[in-house]
Amino acid sequence: MSLKDQLDLQRLPRHIAVIMDGNGRWAKERGQDRLYGHHEGVESVRNIVEACAELGVGYLTLYAFSTENWDRPMYEVNGIMELLVNTIRKEVATLSKNNIRLHVIGDMEMLPGNARQEMEEAMSITAANTGLNLVMALSYSARWEIVRAARNIAQDTRDGKLKPEDVTPEVWEQYLCTAKIPDPELMIRTSGECRISNFLLYQLAYAELYFTNTRWPDFRKENLYEAILNFQTRERRFGKTSDQIQQNEEIVS
Ligand code: IPE
Ligand code: IPE
Ligand code: MG
Repeated sequence: MSLKDQLDLQRLPRHIAVIMDGNGRWAKERGQDRLYGHHEGVESVRNIVEACAELGVGYLTLYAFSTENWDRPMYEVNGIMELLVNTIRKEVATLSKNNIRLHVIGDMEMLPGNARQEMEEAMSITAANTGLNLVMALSYSARWEIVRAARNIAQDTRDGKLKPEDVTPEVWEQYLCTAKIPDPELMIRTSGECRISNFLLYQLAYAELYFTNTRWPDFRKENLYEAILNFQTRERRFGKTSDQIQQNEEIVS
């Protein structure tokens, strides 16, 4: 039986988040420039977006560029931005055809003008689509997001729109970039690093974490199915006991 056939489609993660890591090492291992790795990584993005759309996953968040990545050498940053513009321009028709809606989280103000414009156009073209929600994390970091939320809450409190006692988890979540997006249930990081690197620190509170040595440019549908199968073997307890979880499942089924 193929890996895909082994998936329980009733128990797919509603939201998968991916730290697409290892492009640079993948290129170096082939005696190539790091940018070559980023180019090849785009093929993996296409492949995984397609897989999620086919399976019926609700949300896919891809960590494409972090706040800290701005500190990389200028030629690499420029190369990534150029790649972003060209890819979005090329792919927007396919996104539309496949009923995929594009979202961006992160500090869009930091992006070069043409990249921001391209992203905004793609978001508006796909805004009415009702299939997969593709969330690109661009110039994103969780600490930036959390500080921004705190600042906006302070401002709204000063303006009388909010009282300190109004700030519940639900209200707080509306101030994050992911307002209206459910928390990731599965977080995948490629290329062997076992860290979060400033990604969705609040939202990943109860996500199942999956780390693989596969470099991002080598990551394909089969690797995704493997990650989802692994997710489906886990018991998600959310602080409760295993007995409580099993009793609850009996009642539901
Ligand atoms: C991930 O690959 C892509 C970005 C961070 C933009 P890296 O570029 O981090 O590749 P490694 O980790 O150096 O191999
Ligand atoms: C995290 O990868 C960011 C992205 C994949 C966009 P990094 O390669 O920047 O993370 P560190 O530096 O290894 O923690
Ligand atoms: Mg890296």
